Amino acid sequence: MREPITIYYNGQPIFAKNGELLSSTLWKNQIYKLNESYKMKRPRGVYCGFGRCDGCIVLLNGKRVQSCQVTVVEGMALEEDGS
Ligand code: FES
Repeated sequence: MREPITIYYNGQPIFAKNGELLSSTLWKNQIYKLNESYKMKRPRGVYCGFGRCDGCIVLLNGKRVQSCQVTVVEGMALEEDGS
């Protein structure tokens, strides 16, 4: 059984389970918009789920990461990618 932890998205605490995929955690917390399309500024989020589309990119310590390829750890601080 995975241990419950807290991570932060845009400064707000959200609940997660240690070691689960970040994209799953965001989805379970009803956070669907993770960034915007470059030209049209349309909302983007998890689409392919396996690292091909870049729809799930968020900022982790200022670096762009694919949330479907990262597991959560206690205290992780994320932001929506506005670039
Ligand atoms: S959902 Fe497509 S790269 Fe993560």
